[in-house]
Amino acid sequence: MTVCEYRAGLEGIPATQSSISFVDGQRGILEYRGIPIEELAQKSNFVETSHLLIWGKLPTKEELENFEQEIRLHRRLKYRIRDMMKCFPEGGHPMDALQACAAALGLFYSRRALDDPAYINAAVIRLLAKIPTMVAAFQLMRKGNDPVQPRDDLGYSANFLYMLNEKEPDPFAAQILDVCLMLHAEHTINASTFSAMVTASTLTDPYAVVASAVGTLAGPLHGGANEEVISMLEEIGSVENVRPYVEQCIEKKSKIMGFGHRVYKVKDPRAIILQDLAEQLFEKYGVDQFYDVAVELERVVHEKMGHKGIYANVDYYSGLVYRKLGIPTDLFTPVFAVSRIAGWLAHWKEQLNENRIFRPTQIYTGTHAAPYIPMSER
Ligand code: SDX
Repeated sequence: MTVCEYRAGLEGIPATQSSISFVDGQRGILEYRGIPIEELAQKSNFVETSHLLIWGKLPTKEELENFEQEIRLHRRLKYRIRDMMKCFPEGGHPMDALQACAAALGLFYSRRALDDPAYINAAVIRLLAKIPTMVAAFQLMRKGNDPVQPRDDLGYSANFLYMLNEKEPDPFAAQILDVCLMLHAEHTINASTFSAMVTASTLTDPYAVVASAVGTLAGPLHGGANEEVISMLEEIGSVENVRPYVEQCIEKKSKIMGFGHRVYKVKDPRAIILQDLAEQLFEKYGVDQFYDVAVELERVVHEKMGHKGIYANVDYYSGLVYRKLGIPTDLFTPVFAVSRIAGWLAHWKEQLNENRIFRPTQIYTGTHAAPYIPMSER
């Protein structure tokens, strides 16, 4: 075996082989199962894209209808999950609520029959179907309202917006959200997917796999950045404050949220599409008060940090889109999770196909044969 040098954050070290998605960070290319993300964003929808990612191919008409129908049938939550959610503190973060609810599904369905295709299929359907309902239920419950039941006559994204906002959405808004979900569905071996794969490799149940991934996505260096971007734009406040803000960040070596990526050294292709979606929404519903600040910030970051390959990532414009869709800021990362569930499940299945438990090594930097110092001498 070749011994590799230690690389912080496993930068550049392949930890798996995968045929699910591909990123070319120099050319700004993202493909799901070989299909460019731009093409999927134009022609597909989230449920079809999830089928592509999880089952490895675009579905036939009949396969898609069955897949959609199965998801519709499993959208409702068990009343015990809803009762459990009623005990959550209303001030708690929705990502924590989602992580707890995803894990709780394991209490009901944890057979761990990982060699049974029916068990795998049921877990895929259940998770795709119930994660949006959990996010929406927590949103209503923390306001003191009862969750609304999912509507079987609405598509995936329209139903999600309906459950969140308690009113049927404009089809245009639902379509924009659906494209957002496609864009966030998968992204090779990012931190939350790696977390899902490590958990999957122990052959635990898929609900534990998703719960660990949700916990990982929540951090501000990963999916949690979309929420932080809005706080940052609010803090900057106006176009004139942008340049001093960037200069201060450079001086203090602090991170500008929504910028930079381990793989992309150009603007993230998803950020390009998300900016376009934001502009489409602004044209129809009015511009966001912070959009000009966001555009100026991107311009100044490009000027000052473009030479280091620091450009807008997926989390930069998504928040401005979600705000226009009436989604509260602390639900931005849960919305990311609603989408990324497809990628996590695809990697869970792929991991099971050729499983070996993840068990890397380490370089020990401590001492050896150290004396035990009695309490009185410490
Ligand atoms: C996502 O990997 C994925 O696929 C993730 C994702 C997905 O789809 O799953 O694409 C989703 O998580 C997007 C990233 C969201 N996070 C943020 O927007 C937070 C801000 N960005 C960063 O903290 C950072 O860029 C990361 C975490 C995204 C990447 O971290 P790396 O690869 O470990 O890079 P680094 O922190 O070591 O930075 C390298 C250099 C440093 O400068 P030097 O010390 O070499 O001089 O670039 C600088 C950093 O200081 N830098 C930044 C910066 N990002 C990198 N400087 C200021 N602001 C930034 N945002």
